[in-house]
Amino acid sequence: MRRVEVAIPGRPYPVLIGAGAIAELAGLVEGQVVIVQDLALPPLALPGAAVVKVAAGEDIKSWDGLRQIVDSLEAHRLGRDGTVVALGGGTIGDAAGFAASIWQRGVALINVPTTLLAMVDSAIGGKTGINSSRAKNAIGSFWQPRAVLCDLDWLDTLPEAEKQSGYAEIVKYTMTLDPGMADVGDFAEVVERSVRAKAEIVAADERESGLREVLNYGHTAGHAIEALSGYTLAHGRAVAAGMRVAARISQRVLGCPAAVVEQQDRLLAAHGLPGPLPDLAVDRVLDALPGDKKARAGRPRWVLLRDAGRPEPGHEVPEEIVREAVAEILSGS
Ligand SMILES: NC(=O)c1ccc[n+]([C@@H]2O[C@H](COP(=O)([O-])OP(=O)(O)OC[C@H]3O[C@@H](n4cnc5c(N)ncnc54)[C@H](O)[C@@H]3O)[C@@H](O)[C@H]2O)c1
Repeated sequence: MRRVEVAIPGRPYPVLIGAGAIAELAGLVEGQVVIVQDLALPPLALPGAAVVKVAAGEDIKSWDGLRQIVDSLEAHRLGRDGTVVALGGGTIGDAAGFAASIWQRGVALINVPTTLLAMVDSAIGGKTGINSSRAKNAIGSFWQPRAVLCDLDWLDTLPEAEKQSGYAEIVKYTMTLDPGMADVGDFAEVVERSVRAKAEIVAADERESGLREVLNYGHTAGHAIEALSGYTLAHGRAVAAGMRVAARISQRVLGCPAAVVEQQDRLLAAHGLPGPLPDLAVDRVLDALPGDKKARAGRPRWVLLRDAGRPEPGHEVPEEIVREAVAEILSGS
């Protein structure tokens, strides 16, 4: 079993990675246990645990979804010394994690991510939350889990499109934090190194006051394109398109080598990313940018690459350069 420590000061926790990692769950839970799980997944064998089944998807990240989970914790009389186990992809983890953070002013949480995206990204770092009527993830908390169990067996049933979403984040880690990962063939090692990359960043900057912003590489244009597609474009495809935009801006603004931009394109293409994009006018994408969470005072601030493994957050970029990069990516060239 591979193990990565998320060294949040005062509250470190392990991420266990490998086939069969779920077997560790029984030894990690404390007190009464409520498993909040994606109803599409088979039940877990954990004697004595209550199970609450919810549908995955953005609908669970709503006030109604949150109420459903919190009502279930109350119905099962989960006490302050109990544990919530979030079993599912990022939508279940975000909503169940938020519920765990507010129920009884916060109870223990164990994340059991079942999508590749959740394993390498959303289950680690303590961001929980739901969507407001206007913005994704606008309501939430920082609530670190006690442990994360990445059992790779779950991925056997994961649809290809969902795997691609996870790979977009893996390519993001490769380009921004661990360029050596590009040459790693062993899948478990790729997951471990991705987890390690995220763990190191969130341990150094839990509340996203600076360093953690590098994790938003590709998400500035990515979020705009995803939102403009009416969320019909998969998150990973949108982020992949956003990374292609950011790399081209990096080349113009920071002199990022062309070979790095090409390498990123190759790594994405190897996983079918970004694939076909919606037919969007460049102006609409530019207009959608300042709504991004990283925008301060209405102007987007870009995470750019000076080189592979050298990300730099906080860049304001002249509109013409952004326009050219967005136009190039939307046209598929
Ligand atoms: N908290 C964070 O730091 C963070 C980071 C990145 C993304 N997110 C959030 O994560 C969410 C996306 O997560 P996601 O892509 O995991 O979505 P998801 O939870 O909707 O899961 C995607 C689909 O896969 C299915 N599924 C899950 N596990 C499966 C398995 N093992 N086999 C077969 N099918 C399975 C689900 O039923 C669902 O249909 C978004 O809401 C995003 O905002 C949060």
